[in-house]
Amino acid sequence: MSTTTASTGRAMPVRLAGLGSHLPKKVVTNDDLAKTLDTNDEWIRTRTGIRERRVLPADWATSDLAVAAAREALADANMTIDDIDTILVATTTPDHTIPGTAPIVAAKLGTEAGAFDVNAACSGFLYGLRVGSSMVATGDEAILVIGAEALTRIVDPGDRSVAILFGDGAGAAVLVPDETAGLGPFDLGADGRDPSMLWTEAGGTRTPVDESVLSAKTNMLTMRGGDVYRHAVARMTASSKSVIERAGLSVDDIDLFIGHQANIRILEAVGHRLGVPGERTHITVDRHGNTSAASVPLALADARDAGRLQPGDTVLLTAFGAGLTWGSCLLRWQVSESAADRPATNASGGSA
Ligand code: UT7
Repeated sequence: MSTTTASTGRAMPVRLAGLGSHLPKKVVTNDDLAKTLDTNDEWIRTRTGIRERRVLPADWATSDLAVAAAREALADANMTIDDIDTILVATTTPDHTIPGTAPIVAAKLGTEAGAFDVNAACSGFLYGLRVGSSMVATGDEAILVIGAEALTRIVDPGDRSVAILFGDGAGAAVLVPDETAGLGPFDLGADGRDPSMLWTEAGGTRTPVDESVLSAKTNMLTMRGGDVYRHAVARMTASSKSVIERAGLSVDDIDLFIGHQANIRILEAVGHRLGVPGERTHITVDRHGNTSAASVPLALADARDAGRLQPGDTVLLTAFGAGLTWGSCLLRWQVSESAADRPATNASGGSA
């Protein structure tokens, strides 16, 4: 088996016409978790950089988060849902095993446009951007790519090794054709030889849910954190280097580095190996925790709202997750038409 990641195309004539995000209102701090778990704020902050995370309302599911972010992205693009040809939802926490979450999102947005899920775990938004860009480059007028997750629904709240890490949220982007723009090159990779590194062991077709599964909680997320950490650093570094080199650029050309927000130490390690200075790295893991496929679009929206993205900036996006999967791309930042009207708010403000 080859251990090098495959290049997957050149930059495509595609622009992000709109960007939206949604974070639930409910904030859970490290101190809140320490009330019921054998953990503490100091351990969580020093090991992960996380200070707090958001948790979705009891009557919400992943599709509700996705719809809220999608509405914001459409408004940002000055578009309506009728302008959208296809909806991709990147998620590893679907509303149901069947059907996919994307058709539910489409119905809630009021369209019968094509809609399907992309499950590449925390790398899902990068995979979604890759597929969506190809659709735009081959004739579609507008594609909605959403990363949405309700991770807190699949972690055992009594398991301190994972319960402290994850949060809920969604981010969304509208992709449109633009000959003057460039999204890519992309690098996508996967190594599925040991899915047990980060998985829900039961609840799928290999081990359907029964009494023994429920009592052992093997339908909940588990992770061998140290192994995942090492792979995350190595894969995101190599994948990022691949897209920078194939674009004919150097690290000095990267204006902002937005990596998957799982652990601040991982982001620092990748930044260090790439040679990206800390001040050019955007961090949201402190406020969002790990939101899997939602983390990159949430961080991108947060960076925009913080005024960290200027027209013409080159942004490096990279992600890593269960599978294992990883993916990277370059994004040339362009201002959407409605940007001038946008109030200067912080993306952390949710409405649910
Ligand atoms: O989104 C997909 C990608 N995911 C990631 O990239 C996550 C990658 N992994 C990580 O971020 C880190 O491995 C963790 C944050 C999950 C764990 O950090 P670590 O430095 O690898 O800690 P550890 O698992 O080696 O645990 C160190 C100690 C252990 O105690 P002993 O055996 O040394 O006595 C754990 O039992 O910390 C203990 N521990 C905790 N203590 C307080 C584990 N979890 C906690 C906790 N609070 N929540």
